[in-house]
Amino acid sequence: MTALVIKPGAYAAMHARSLERPDDFWAEQAAAIDWEKRWTEVLDSSRPPFFRWFKGGELNTCWNAIDRHVAGGRGDQAALIYDSPVTSTIRSYTYKELRGHVSQVAGALKAVGVTRGDRVIVYMPMIPEAVMAMLACARLGAVHSVVFGGFAPPELASRIDDCKPKAIVTASCGVEPGRIVAYKPMLDEAIALAHHKPIACLVKQRPMVAATLVKGRDHDWDEAVGMAKPADCVPVAATDPLYILYTSGTTGQPKGIVRDNGGHAVALKWTMPNVYGVQPGEVYWAASDVGWVVGHSYIVYAPLLHGCTTIVYEGKPVGTPDPGAFWRVISEHRCSTMFTAPTAFRAIKREDPEAKHLKRYDMQRFRALFLAGERCDPDTFTWAERILKVPVVDHWWQTETGWPICANPLGIEHFKPKPGSTAKPMAGWDIRVLDAHGDEVRKPGDIGALVAKLPLPPGTFPTLWNAEDRFRQAYLAEFPGHYKTGDAGFVDADGYVHVMTRTDDIINVAGHRLSTGAMEEVLASHPDVAECAVIGVADQLKGQLPLGFLCLKAGVNRPYGEIVEEVVKMVRDRIGPVAAFKSAIVVKRLPKTRSGKILRGTMQKIADSESYKMPATIDDPAILGEIKESLQSIGYAGKA
Ligand code: COA
Ligand code: AMP
Repeated sequence: MTALVIKPGAYAAMHARSLERPDDFWAEQAAAIDWEKRWTEVLDSSRPPFFRWFKGGELNTCWNAIDRHVAGGRGDQAALIYDSPVTSTIRSYTYKELRGHVSQVAGALKAVGVTRGDRVIVYMPMIPEAVMAMLACARLGAVHSVVFGGFAPPELASRIDDCKPKAIVTASCGVEPGRIVAYKPMLDEAIALAHHKPIACLVKQRPMVAATLVKGRDHDWDEAVGMAKPADCVPVAATDPLYILYTSGTTGQPKGIVRDNGGHAVALKWTMPNVYGVQPGEVYWAASDVGWVVGHSYIVYAPLLHGCTTIVYEGKPVGTPDPGAFWRVISEHRCSTMFTAPTAFRAIKREDPEAKHLKRYDMQRFRALFLAGERCDPDTFTWAERILKVPVVDHWWQTETGWPICANPLGIEHFKPKPGSTAKPMAGWDIRVLDAHGDEVRKPGDIGALVAKLPLPPGTFPTLWNAEDRFRQAYLAEFPGHYKTGDAGFVDADGYVHVMTRTDDIINVAGHRLSTGAMEEVLASHPDVAECAVIGVADQLKGQLPLGFLCLKAGVNRPYGEIVEEVVKMVRDRIGPVAAFKSAIVVKRLPKTRSGKILRGTMQKIADSESYKMPATIDDPAILGEIKESLQSIGYAGKA
């Protein structure tokens, strides 16, 4: 393994200081950012449990991500490389060129009326224009809300109604291996479904599909951007929102995670050298999508804030064209560091277990692999270490947090990795493990709810968009004084944090966060379904896959296969292909407690052939046997 500089004790000193003197610690980090006006207070604690960072400060995030590097001499360095195996394109933009494009796009948005504080939805595939649109919003002080392309029109419509965008930016299509996804008809359908109507849409026409434009509302990207007067950076308050990113919650209504400008820039900048061990000028690649938080933080903002070169990759780990795709990108663009989800490595391992494709590429500059988004199984972790011969870091993340809660901080101190653990809390994270009564567990290794003592560090979410009560209820109410992460796990005797499972209905499918509750809402709306449940079952590639259970209304005697096909289509149409909902079974009854709560956890354990305790409150234990038989009939729950 490549030797790393080890600085014993450096982590402990850093972490202790970040908790004991948060004002000093973060004020020092804030010096790495250009401020239009210095803050008056580092941490505003006047309204607990709500905290704000860098109150009184003013800055512009786009300035810090682009213009300041041009001013500082990086104008001719590559800022963004677009690498698209699905369209056979590679294109590079210097910082100077990116500034030119982004200020034109900002000008085009301004021309249709977008100003500071307005919301703009970005519904785009992985093309550079998506990044430009985000940065253009930041430039104007507008608030972007990116919606992942794999979501269906009703999901997009619910986000339109929640954040009420003045404008929407889209492209005519996305390119998935084997199919072209026409975005514009989905956007039109979403706007028709939504109560709120944007005043303008900006549409990037791609050569594979020409989108039909609605007169008076839609503008061709190339024309509008080409004609626009470049717009300058608008200073905003540090506490003003930079973006809203919707994520799955425990109901069908997604949560609008808010990110501010000041704390976000400071925290992300800190992570680049300290967590990722990357220096300005180096190439940093996050193989994610701008629709996810990893894409926001580590495709767009952090690498650019740090003066690195970032990569927008429109492709997959396998099949575009082979399982050597990642190694090709790393070697061709001389990446120092890459970040992806374990599922991508499972996909590569499945197709090329001996990593034969790796031998075709020069990986000399490659220093570290970071994994996040789902629990990393030890097999995948050790396989990645073995084939790459560089440090592999499993780090723990959430949309809510915007940057890693726990990691092995390669720029500070490299701890001996423990597969299955996400190592130690990062700056400002005071992680505790609490039992059901809200008390700390008694000893290392005891499992409980993973919580963080308030205040959370800068760059995390200060609230939910227009839903302060939901924010309090969902995250702060259960364990007063703490942020409930929704994950359960333990801290071992060496202080390593192990994230084991969610405590709510959220499942992780191919690194994508999904709510089984939202899928149940769709199944329940089928006219033949009386009752239903959705659980996440283990899957060797995607980590988890959703599986539906349907109890039919009395008298329904259609073939079950037809009903299953219909509900599968309904989930795809209403939530989107990203839900990967492909299987459901019809059962007579669902196992419940005496108070009527469906025993989803027990069903999941049966499906995955894990041992389980018979729940003391179960209404009728015989139902578990029926469920097991049904599961066995479709290949789960071990052998019959
Ligand atoms: N636009 C439209 N559709 C999309 C999409 C997008 N941006 N992204 C995915 N989809 C579709 C896929 O085409 C697929 O559709 P299908 O049911 O018709 O095949 C469906 O959504 C499910 O996608 P996914 O779960 O990603 O599965 P996949 O089979 O296409 O690929 C992996 C599997 C493992 C290769 C892929 O999930 C991957 O590369 N994951 C990397 C992890 C990642 O990006 N994580 C983000 C957080 S770090
Ligand atoms: P998302 O908001 O999509 O980033 O998903 C966040 C959730 O993914 C977390 O709450 C965890 O359940 C899971 N997760 C993310 N990273 C890890 C990790 N490294 N190990 C275990 N679970 C993780």
